[in-house]
Amino acid sequence: MSNAATAEGRIHEFRTTSGSGTIELGRKLAHLLRPPKMLILRGDLGTGKTTLVKGIAQALDAADPDEVTSPTFTLIHEYDGILDGNPIKLFHLDLYRLDSERQLESLGLDDLLTPDALVLVEWGEKFKSIRKKASGEIVIASDGGDARRITVTLKD
Ligand SMILES: Nc1ncnc2c1ncn2[C@@H]1O[C@H](COP(=O)(O)OP(=O)(O)OP(=O)(O)O)[C@@H](O)[C@H]1O
Ligand SMILES: [Mg+2]
Repeated sequence: MSNAATAEGRIHEFRTTSGSGTIELGRKLAHLLRPPKMLILRGDLGTGKTTLVKGIAQALDAADPDEVTSPTFTLIHEYDGILDGNPIKLFHLDLYRLDSERQLESLGLDDLLTPDALVLVEWGEKFKSIRKKASGEIVIASDGGDARRITVTLKD
């Protein structure tokens, strides 16, 4: 793991070698992600975006890893959690199947981002409006076999 501060914000880099390792990393990351925040989860199909959310949800007491599934068809899953004694709303979105900003508008994304919200958006980079609003991104890249490089960039 390494940390750096750049013009784009704070950057944290990690490497995992299994799905359970990425869940564990999600548990650690949950404490870096102070609400309100909307983060883009970026990475090829099946690299582990949803797997990372399992760990984040677990650390927030929002859901067990088995309960966190891909919001492929429902687009949004919502969980209630706790962070340092304060209630937190965790929203997990998967926009792979959405094509236009107009379809996106009907989701009412702006209304989700309340002061107690952590909004994690798979495939959010497809939409300019989300790229503008995002407080950062988590990029997962395959590093051969089950290895992944995971880069967290936070703007503030
Ligand atoms: N190091 C790793 N980190 C995360 N997942 C891993 C790792 N090694 C293997 N895997 C496996 O890869 C798969 C990742 O699936 P997951 O649904 O999390 O991907 P995703 O990026 O959300 O895909 P999609 O774009 O289809 O939503 C899981 O089956 C997981 O067990
Ligand atoms: Mg997914």
